[in-house]
Amino acid sequence: MDGTRLRGRTAVVTGAASGIGRGIALRFAEEGAAVVVADVRREPKQGRHFQTDVETPTDEAIRDSGGEATFVETDVSDYDSVEGCLERAVSEFDGVDVFVNNAGIELPGTSQEITVEDWETVLGVNLDGVFYGAKAAVPHLVEAEGTLLNVASVMAWDGGGGPPYSASKAGVVNLTRDLAVELGPDGVNVNAICPGYIETPIQDVQTEEDIERAREQTLLPHFGAPEDVGDAAVFLASDEARFVHGTALTVDGGWTAHRT
Ligand code: NAI
Repeated sequence: MDGTRLRGRTAVVTGAASGIGRGIALRFAEEGAAVVVADVRREPKQGRHFQTDVETPTDEAIRDSGGEATFVETDVSDYDSVEGCLERAVSEFDGVDVFVNNAGIELPGTSQEITVEDWETVLGVNLDGVFYGAKAAVPHLVEAEGTLLNVASVMAWDGGGGPPYSASKAGVVNLTRDLAVELGPDGVNVNAICPGYIETPIQDVQTEEDIERAREQTLLPHFGAPEDVGDAAVFLASDEARFVHGTALTVDGGWTAHRT
């Protein structure tokens, strides 16, 4: 744990058992933050295409490296569960300085293939979950003059992730702006990150053809890693980003510069 950019801060990261949330949690811990891993599961997912052999739970990996972390079972689509997570975080760490709304799911299918329940399930996690996280975290973030960070997607602008996924991510970007208007006067930084194609288990829904298309869309010669989003999150949660507010930062290897 060599870094110091987040020393003395407590960060809650939703969906931090696997993928991008795990990358954010690990990077936060390396920069000295105490991390609350808030997820429906503690065990990391092993992906079909990427991250096929991740085994150690995130909180354990952080503690093994000398950091401070705890796991709190949390379902972001259930407000009571999110509130319970915040209560645990505050009682264990004496406050919350950074809250990352990262948990998200994707269900494949066109408007005709998916069911109304599929729509509601994705919106429930990806958009309701972000609002619930903000609603429960804001009183603590105001107290700490902290940071709220929402993980959206390049699909917020481009579409292509299926109706509920793309719609939910567009919602997250504008919810971020609205919360920035609300919370700027309180000294709370609010921003979104819009990742491009990142190698995580969420890509299990993708076919080989989907992956090939994504390679053509990504300008850099490789996909992103969870730590690439983690590095951007460290910046946005650090003092270096104190005047960055209400923005949506793309971390996409050029995806949005290259509209096919
Ligand atoms: P992932 O599937 O690898 O990990 C998602 C994590 O969220 C898992 O640990 C899962 O257990 C957890 N989770 C799912 N439902 C939850 C719930 N109701 N409550 C709490 N935790 C829950 O996915 P990945 O790729 O790490 O995605 C993280 C975020 O990044 C999502 O919001 C996703 O939409 C977004 N994103 C991912 C991109 C990518 O290429 N991987 C690109 C753009 C955005």
